[in-house]
Amino acid sequence: MTHVSARDSGRRATPLRLRAALVPIATGLVTVATTVALAASASAGTTLGAAAAQTGRYFGTAVAVNRLSDSAYVGILNREFTSVTAENEMKWDATEPSPNQFTYASGDRLVSHAEANGMRVRGHTLAWHQQQPRWTAVLSGTALRNAMLNHVTQVATHYRGRIDAWNVVNEAFADGGSGGRRDSNLQRTGDDWIEAAFRAARAADPGAKLCYNDYNTDGQNPKSNGVYAMVQDFKARGVPIDCVGFQSHFTARSPVPSDYQANLQRFVDLGVEVQITELDVEGSGSAQADSYARAVRACLAVSRCTGITVSGIRDTDSWRSSATPLLFDGNGTKKPAYTATLDALNAGGTTVPPTTPPAGDGDCAASVSVNSWSGGFVATVTVTAGPAGLNGWVVNLTLPSGATVTNVWSAQNTGTSGDVSFRNVSYNSSVGAGAGTEFGFQGTGNGPTGTATCARA
Ligand code: XIL
Repeated sequence: MTHVSARDSGRRATPLRLRAALVPIATGLVTVATTVALAASASAGTTLGAAAAQTGRYFGTAVAVNRLSDSAYVGILNREFTSVTAENEMKWDATEPSPNQFTYASGDRLVSHAEANGMRVRGHTLAWHQQQPRWTAVLSGTALRNAMLNHVTQVATHYRGRIDAWNVVNEAFADGGSGGRRDSNLQRTGDDWIEAAFRAARAADPGAKLCYNDYNTDGQNPKSNGVYAMVQDFKARGVPIDCVGFQSHFTARSPVPSDYQANLQRFVDLGVEVQITELDVEGSGSAQADSYARAVRACLAVSRCTGITVSGIRDTDSWRSSATPLLFDGNGTKKPAYTATLDALNAGGTTVPPTTPPAGDGDCAASVSVNSWSGGFVATVTVTAGPAGLNGWVVNLTLPSGATVTNVWSAQNTGTSGDVSFRNVSYNSSVGAGAGTEFGFQGTGNGPTGTATCARA
């Protein structure tokens, strides 16, 4: 698949100077001296993409597809950037203007451009309270939930295999001090709408990294604490999430936070990757340049901060152009912010680990056999490990309405009706490559009929 080759391409390979520096040397003192000498002699990247690639990262931009006919714009795009995010073209209103009628022409144009130029694609976004088509306004409850899930499934299926990472859910947390969810039509369908969206996205495109994306979460604050608690909970229950995107729109009143790096790191410590996804900084001159450099350095200091995307190319392309927040001026000339960003990338930092985290696909599979009788059932589930084996697993499945789990063996369950998770117990956590283990449960009502998903835990 295209995204796999993009991930594994030379752009991500460990650069020569770092590989040399990693050669084991007998004493720590000699290692330090060697590293410094090699780093000093390294040649610098001359574009943002090349400079970021030295540490295994991408450097991306939001792209408005209608600008792909502007040759000056495309010239900068192709020269400098190794990843693209659709500015508007993959949003719900753009892709499903009428119920179950999908229009992909603009999004497809962007993906084709990216593929032709060896760039990754960040999909943006499957479920968001803004830029919804008008027809969702009259929906609520189950009808809206189903419309959202159908949207996620259809769009992620259409782009299956061509997306490096999806912003599955965008901006679902409230501003201010509550640390809770934002009120929205989607939120009113039930607190579990986010995990339902992630599960649908994983089923539709198992190879894409699945991310939660938000703004004002760049430092540690009640809002980012809320997102943190959600990611921690998803990880504990095996809800498929691989990454968290930090939009990073900075202004004079909302500058790069002093704990930006620490905040990125605490998310990484939960077992997800992080990315800076919509970076822009209001201002000009050296103040703006310094802010860009600080943001870049924060990402480069965190080994699993895997890439940076700015929210457009020229100031005049910006959705808030009066803030002149980007790296190129309206003529396409590099600003001081560009030079500071390039220099910060070339100064180096941690190297992204060569293997990206397991996307879940291929880690394990679950198959269910059900024995039922009038009013009850017994289900036996076989967990089969993928080529890497397992040290823990979670199986998720959905019971039909009215069914309730009454007894479970060889697994620990969360929930007894609707969406139910089953986690390994201590004696069957470890499963060798290609080997299997079994657990079961008994219930009243009808047994499960849909697919069960399995994830490493
Ligand atoms: C903005 C686009 O840049 C504009 O063209 C559009 O009119 C509104 O949306 N957070 C996001 C982005 O996740 O998708 C938004 O993009 C800006 C805020």
